[in-house]
Amino acid sequence: MCGIVGYVGSGEASARALGVVMSGLARLEYRGYDSAGVALVTADRERVAVAKKAGKLVNLAKALAEDPLPDATAAIGHTRWATHGAPTDANAHPHLAAGGRIAIIHNGIIENYAKLRAELTRDGVIFASETDTEVAGHWLAREVDTGLSLTDAMLSTARALEGAFTFLAVDAREPHTVVGARRNSPLVVGLGDGENFLGSDVVAFIEHTRVALELDQDEVVEITPDGVTVFDRTGAVVVREPYEVTWDASAAERGGFATFMDKEIHDQPAAVADTLRGRIDEHGKLQLDGGYIDDRVLNSVDKIVVVACGTASYAGLVARYAIEHWCRIPVEVELAHEFRYRDPVVGVRTLVVAISQSGETMDTIMAVRHAQQQGANVIAIVNVQGSTIAREADAVLYTRAGPEIAVASTKAFLAQITAAFLLGIFLAELRGNKFPDEISALLAELDEIPAKVQRVLDTSQPIRDLAHSMANERTVLFLGRHVGYPVALEGALKLKELAYIHAEGFAAGELKHGPIALVEEGQPVFIILPSPNGRHSLHSKVISNVQEVRARGARTFVIAEEGDTEAADYAEQVFYVPASPVLMAPLLKVVPLQIFALELASAKGFDVDQPRNLAKSVTVE
Ligand code: F6R
Repeated sequence: MCGIVGYVGSGEASARALGVVMSGLARLEYRGYDSAGVALVTADRERVAVAKKAGKLVNLAKALAEDPLPDATAAIGHTRWATHGAPTDANAHPHLAAGGRIAIIHNGIIENYAKLRAELTRDGVIFASETDTEVAGHWLAREVDTGLSLTDAMLSTARALEGAFTFLAVDAREPHTVVGARRNSPLVVGLGDGENFLGSDVVAFIEHTRVALELDQDEVVEITPDGVTVFDRTGAVVVREPYEVTWDASAAERGGFATFMDKEIHDQPAAVADTLRGRIDEHGKLQLDGGYIDDRVLNSVDKIVVVACGTASYAGLVARYAIEHWCRIPVEVELAHEFRYRDPVVGVRTLVVAISQSGETMDTIMAVRHAQQQGANVIAIVNVQGSTIAREADAVLYTRAGPEIAVASTKAFLAQITAAFLLGIFLAELRGNKFPDEISALLAELDEIPAKVQRVLDTSQPIRDLAHSMANERTVLFLGRHVGYPVALEGALKLKELAYIHAEGFAAGELKHGPIALVEEGQPVFIILPSPNGRHSLHSKVISNVQEVRARGARTFVIAEEGDTEAADYAEQVFYVPASPVLMAPLLKVVPLQIFALELASAKGFDVDQPRNLAKSVTVE
């Protein structure tokens, strides 16, 4: 939610400052695209040079081409997801203070901004925008006016503010410095050679350096051409160890695909395989990526609560079926924003599993903190290395999906399910619910998934064709039962967010309790058909649901397993995926639905990587 980039170069003013910031913004645009702006500092000027434009980054690039900015020693840039104030040029960041000497950009929400704005207004400050950010800018300028350096002024400003923020600021009188601050929003430092970088995410600077350094809560950072200094909230210097980012710039490129989303759908076999790789040691122990929860604690757990939002919560719903079945522990799955505010019953015997691609979703962060305050242990299943949730959880299991740039989540979903399955398998072994040979069998079944996902991708042309023929549909329904239910929810969410079509996912058994009233002649309904095999198969029950909607005129499209000889009798079209164990089927059956949404949105001419009104990581509550 809002992308932030900062850069200081080797001392001489050059065009590189703007180049670095613009290419960083292009990579961060997934975080928000309501407006974009840059501020540049040069040694011989009293004011910073600013350009900003409402709309996507391309508008800013056009404005810069028509009216170029001077070469610079330092630069900051911002891509916005609007919170306070409409997406206009005036509300775009950077915001100026001290008569244009200071520029500031911000990600987050300042909760006490109204009080501070009133105080500044009484002091005669005139505001140029409706944003909370501008308040912080003027506050910072007031501190600088008292004779403080930009860094000290940022430290004292951060102490005055309530809420969530990452700030970057520059001062025309300190042309070789960019200062940043963070509380509850991400900020990463990139360490270069004679130049340094700041970004909301390492993708902002990955093409220039893979050496990064993270900031903790309430820290302030100062970057100059030859140094990075981190301060805690009291102003004391903190020593932080840099780390090497494990993927390179090519992972954040489209790699020949027309969209990031299509590329990321095709990354899914690797995302699952990488998430599985080398996880279970020779003693059957799950290799976590950080933190530790004692086996005795895990053995005493009497309830698991999964907290997550959106697609990540559907991964949790899939995991629930598996973990309850394998471990015999009750599992609740709760939307993080609902969990946090309903006084949930959690305690020392509750294991909370926080699932998040970004690791920065504010609702999930708040749920994690609340659970920890109640004494619960938290395991994070997170994709972004070093993100807030990964750092604050007691233990972390990374999904190794690589950077997910398209706003709608695809490969992270499959990787989240895979990681949650690993956790379930590990707990089942630890708690003695499964014998070692059963554990090995489950792991072997999981190992087969990447090749099966690849088969789904290789045979996806029919669903792509169907999507193009359905560009004018107004409503699409999705039905599933058992693990097919979260797949139906995810299929509907993808279609809503990408193609702006009304779509609903229902538990197939719930249909006759109301939703069937929606079905009329010609209504497209996708049905996730369970495997016909196995003693407890729900196949015939879901077939009955297919018949119920068909009898009322629905057009039925079925996702079924290869070898299902009955499916074709009940469907206008069947899309087959390879057979798999029942619990693992969502990893395959969701893929045609992702592709369907992608293609239908493309057929309508929509931007599938950056759907309207959305942002990749929702860092406000
Ligand atoms: C949907 C989507 C969102 C996210 C949700 C949680 O395609 O991407 O529903 O799944 O905002 O985000 P993370 O996983 O970053 O916590």
